[in-house]
Amino acid sequence: MLSLKVVFIAALAEALVLPKSLSSISLEGCLKGLPHGQSIGSVANVTITSGGLLRYYLISIPPTYHDEIPTPAILSYHGGLRTAESQLQLDELTNPEFNTNSFVIYPQGINDVWQGVPNVTINDVQFTADILDHVQKQYCIDPTRIFATGKSDGAGFCNVLACDKTMSSRIAAFAPVSGAFYIDTLPCAPDEVQIPCSPSRHDIPFLEFHGGNDSTINYHGGERKQECLPSIPHFIQQWAVRDGLSLHNVTTPISSNTVSYKYGSGVNFGLVEHVYDAVIGHDWPSTAPNSDNQAAGHHIASFNATPIILEFFKQHPLSLWDILAEI
Ligand SMILES: *[C@@H]1O[C@H](CO)[C@@H](O)[C@H](O)[C@H]1NC(C)=O
Ligand SMILES: *[C@@H]1O[C@H](CO)[C@@H](O)[C@H](O)[C@H]1NC(C)=O
Ligand SMILES: *[C@@H]1O[C@H](CO)[C@@H](O)[C@H](O)[C@H]1NC(C)=O
Ligand SMILES: *[C@@H]1O[C@H](CO)[C@@H](O)[C@H](O)[C@H]1NC(C)=O
Repeated sequence: MLSLKVVFIAALAEALVLPKSLSSISLEGCLKGLPHGQSIGSVANVTITSGGLLRYYLISIPPTYHDEIPTPAILSYHGGLRTAESQLQLDELTNPEFNTNSFVIYPQGINDVWQGVPNVTINDVQFTADILDHVQKQYCIDPTRIFATGKSDGAGFCNVLACDKTMSSRIAAFAPVSGAFYIDTLPCAPDEVQIPCSPSRHDIPFLEFHGGNDSTINYHGGERKQECLPSIPHFIQQWAVRDGLSLHNVTTPISSNTVSYKYGSGVNFGLVEHVYDAVIGHDWPSTAPNSDNQAAGHHIASFNATPIILEFFKQHPLSLWDILAEI
């Protein structure tokens, strides 16, 4: 039986005679079974052409997937000089203890880096749009529940997507970890630097995690690779401003050493959030050993980022208004 949501969105799409620009709310992939050779609960490696280049991504098909139920999808971008496969090992988004109902898509960067890193000229925004077009044709993906996370350079790329006119209304919410948010300007004033950003809506859910002992992407920002990294408090406050929220935050302890700062009030409470762990380094926060926190001088965190990210995504689907605003 078709889920109500498919029927509803399909009816709505028909009633509105959707313009081509709204092709992103397609449910074309529903009721199609899985692509040949793929199975529920496994990971597939898919090659597509984007910008004239052969590119690939890994996709984890959730164990609860049914092709008649629109299913959330999370894009997870690896850190610089890491790979799609290493990100799958790191982020725990495919760990059934945390997630059994969302697709997780792991794009692979050319030369293992992303657009937004100084001197990278590859169009990874286009790559992301091409991946979404492709997966939305193959699987029953809920167009209101597409999300993005990533680590370090991959987290920086989440911000590139959130600041992009088209992708900001195609991706519902963003949760970068230890982000490298390069701005091409010098000299660098980390607490004041202007952050170019042109999203197409003003209610973008944004959650950033950062360690106070991050010696790769310093919490206080500064010059790096001949560009400017904003301080993380300035960076997150600018998201609050962009979303029309006050700079006041509600500070809540999450665990020893870790606090959450939430911006917004009423229905928008927590639309922008920052989780700060004073003692961890450039790591994906986890209470279990992972490839980040087992490096020399690093240690496990006092909390897990992954369930917080999943809960944040669950709370922040796109509304139909957000999608219609794209027209
Ligand atoms: C996925 O496929 C690409 C292209 O064939 C290959 O380079 C890569 O090693 C594969 N990755 C995994 C994890 O299978
Ligand atoms: C980026 O390219 C410019 C021009 O080629 C060069 O001067 C600069 O050193 C490069 N930056 C980095 C971080 O490699
Ligand atoms: C949150 O608010 C507290 C109390 O006003 C302030 O000390 C802190 O700097 C704020 N944090 C951020 C990240 O804005
Ligand atoms: C901070 O990181 C350095 C290595 O970069 C490490 O030697 C030190 O022990 C760390 N401090 C804490 C509190 O974990």
